[in-house]
Amino acid sequence: MLSTRPVAAENSAHQYLPETIGASESRSPNQQLLPITAKVNSQDHLEIGGCDVTTLIERFGSPLYILDEETLRTACRQYRDAFSRYYPGESQVVYASKAWSCLAVCAIANSEGLGIDVVSGGELHTAVGAGVRPDKIYFHGNNKSRAELNLAIETGCIIVVDNWLELHTLAEITQTASFMPVQIMLRLTPGIECHTHEYIRTGHLDSKFGFDPDGVDEVFNFVSKQSFISCIGIHAHIGSQIFELQPHQDLAKVLVQWLVKAGEYKLPVTELNVGGGLGIRYTESDDPPSIESWAKVICEAIAGECQAQQLPLPKLLCEPGRSLIGTACITAYTVGNQKVIPGIRTYLAVDGGMSDNPRPITYQSLYRAAIANRMGSPMTETVTVAGKHCESGDILIKNAQLPPAEPGDVLVVMSTGAYNYSMASNYNRLPRPAAVLVREGEANVILQRETYQDLLRQDRLPERLIGFAK
Ligand code: LLP
Repeated sequence: MLSTRPVAAENSAHQYLPETIGASESRSPNQQLLPITAKVNSQDHLEIGGCDVTTLIERFGSPLYILDEETLRTACRQYRDAFSRYYPGESQVVYASKAWSCLAVCAIANSEGLGIDVVSGGELHTAVGAGVRPDKIYFHGNNKSRAELNLAIETGCIIVVDNWLELHTLAEITQTASFMPVQIMLRLTPGIECHTHEYIRTGHLDSKFGFDPDGVDEVFNFVSKQSFISCIGIHAHIGSQIFELQPHQDLAKVLVQWLVKAGEYKLPVTELNVGGGLGIRYTESDDPPSIESWAKVICEAIAGECQAQQLPLPKLLCEPGRSLIGTACITAYTVGNQKVIPGIRTYLAVDGGMSDNPRPITYQSLYRAAIANRMGSPMTETVTVAGKHCESGDILIKNAQLPPAEPGDVLVVMSTGAYNYSMASNYNRLPRPAAVLVREGEANVILQRETYQDLLRQDRLPERLIGFAK
């Protein structure tokens, strides 16, 4: 009989289970490799949210994003509870929907009381479509178009102004039409370095985001003279996939200094937004702080700085993306061809790749995988998991430890909730996979699998080209 606990967890994929890594109650989801509901059932199959992953593939096709509702909700609650526990003033957690923007995810975050951060007209449209109240939507972006600014004003969301062009455009739009004052926050570059991939660092001075801190007086002065612009807050974000807590403490200090300065210009600033950035576990060697410890450090730092400056406590906002949804999802693929190059390497190909997960080729990100239908088998093979794209760099995992796999096996890649679907493409005209939301044994499609018709939906064939190929 197969048991749910293997004899040697360290040599099988059982080592990735929450029960092996640590009890789900005592760890936050961002410290897990698999969703917190992950289990191995009596058939030796991986189960997420009470659903057998191999059955999900049979039902919904392959590849498939499998999103666990409980993990996502738990992360939302841990953020919300920690901010209420450690911050004596008002607080608001905002989901950075760039991590995964779709109706269902926005609706879940919204139902947990989170606001939504959007960075484009498209993400705004999605948040509104999910029923999010406009005053809980924060519109970011370093190059919002005039049309996007107009849409933001019409919608009534808060605009996080990034630069002078945007500020001048807003001043012009609001002066020529008699609006209620538009509520804005100002994004400033804090000049804080942190250790993460250069592409996902944003707080250092050489960044395309935010106003240069040397020009803060000029910005505050300009804003204070606009009768239709009301600056309610200051925002900064230092980067993503960060494990250190110190940069966030440093950020608190800088933000409170700006708050003091805003007061000198009589700006009605009552909100500080510390951005997102908390990292997650992609491999067992990643050791991010818990959601609670991240929140505690930030809350105490902001409250402490305000106390030192004898300032009333501002409303405190944070906007995590990755740490809310990253480990709530796995991507399941079907194993296909294996190419064995003796003495060199074995390539194990799956039916997706860089189009559904562009992070390895973009940032050299590391991932862990398992064979969902052989969870207890010893991981005796070292193979390179390759995608199916016409590109040598289309490698999902180099030197993955896996049990021997056969065509038709279901391979899962872990921690794929953040910046996978949202960065997915149709490279090589692969239809984007479906996504299912799982919970207590039920699975609902939240994103339909694209079809070949979908791929041609935006194509137009000029009449003079019809029948041209002879
Ligand atoms: N707020 C702002 C203004 C941001 O720019 C970001 C992320 C966040 C919040 C959320 O950060 P998080 O909590 O997710 O670290 N595509 C990259 C990540 C880009 C992050 C962009 N900004 C990746 O796949 O690693």
